[in-house]
Amino acid sequence: MSNLKGKHIILGISGGIAAYKSVVLLRLLVKAGAEVQVVITPNGKEFITPVTLSALSGKPVVSEFFTANTGEWHSHVDLGLWADAMVIAPATASTLAKMATGVADNMLITTYLSAKAPVFVAPAMDLDMMAHPTTTRNLATLQADGVTIIEPATGELASHLVGRGRMEEPEKIAAVLDSFFGRNHDMAGRKVLITAGPTYERIDPVRFIGNFSSGKMGYALAACAAARGAEVTLVSGPTELPDPPGVNTVRVESARQMLEACEKAFDNTDVAIMAAAVADYAPRHYADHKIKREHDAVEAIELVKNPDIAATLGARKRDGQLLVGFALETDNAEANAREKLVRKNLDMIVLNSLADKGAGFGTDTNKVTVITPESATAFSLKSKNAVAADILDCIIKKL
Ligand code: C5P
Repeated sequence: MSNLKGKHIILGISGGIAAYKSVVLLRLLVKAGAEVQVVITPNGKEFITPVTLSALSGKPVVSEFFTANTGEWHSHVDLGLWADAMVIAPATASTLAKMATGVADNMLITTYLSAKAPVFVAPAMDLDMMAHPTTTRNLATLQADGVTIIEPATGELASHLVGRGRMEEPEKIAAVLDSFFGRNHDMAGRKVLITAGPTYERIDPVRFIGNFSSGKMGYALAACAAARGAEVTLVSGPTELPDPPGVNTVRVESARQMLEACEKAFDNTDVAIMAAAVADYAPRHYADHKIKREHDAVEAIELVKNPDIAATLGARKRDGQLLVGFALETDNAEANAREKLVRKNLDMIVLNSLADKGAGFGTDTNKVTVITPESATAFSLKSKNAVAADILDCIIKKL
């Protein structure tokens, strides 16, 4: 936890049972050398007393806009400027909703709105509240606003029900902050180009050839690289994901459009990561009008080969540029990946095997082996965010 030393952290506490765990979190942060200012909501004080929190943090706990007897104003603006990071743990459904919509009726929300530093939230609530579309929507809004969600765990809840909504353990939250400060800015000044998602190749105005890629791996890489200080351009095929915070996202549809956007960005790029699942073929002809159903049979749809974006950039690559590809293989995995590494003139290829449970398309997890001409490093099954951090660590080593 050495990266926390001397860091200014605002610990926001809202009114949930998990507030008892915030005491442990506070203790861990202080022990690691961080300066912690606790900001608690009025409801939070029903669960844990400010006396405990101020004794452990060595600072008066902030909760009200004014100190009642002196009239002293607590400046959320100053607090927002002071902080290197803000973490809200527990973040209740109500606090998440207020954050997402700017309902600034307590000191925690005004401080959030004034914070210039990265903000982390550790949601904690009952499973039905967690699964409610309102909560899902608010979390997506916060994520799009650049807030990092520390995913709640699945397990026994205060209601004695079992499900998703347990606040992540204090040790894990402290570790997230530690690695944020540790990794912070090790990619500063690097220009990174990432492709993600599928491509859609139009047949007629309503039909296309596509694939099941969700784009999650590429988006995780983009968000992670941006958080580490890189200047990121994400060229994305059609996905349902929001633009990652702090990333220049260019939305395209077809492989040809994706190539065009990549060629524009590539010369000014230090690292290019090809995580898109580009369609191999596109229809030779595009029908201007919807192909009618009345035909007894449709003549064959003739397909032509799409450009290989990775190989095109590989051929253009100059010294000092690092090109990374992905390989999704079913058999002879490493040999096939190495063949692609050479053929496309890549410096590194990330292999994922569809045979591995939890790896590949659509999932939130992945299991990869990072292959370079001289090495192969196998990682365990992890969240796509954690996989992204591993891949970037390998890239940094190679730069
Ligand atoms: O040849 P294969 O499709 O297995 O290669 C996968 C790698 O090449 C991935 O990095 C993918 O993004 C990239 N690729 C590409 N353009 C294509 C096909 C694949 O950039 N047309």
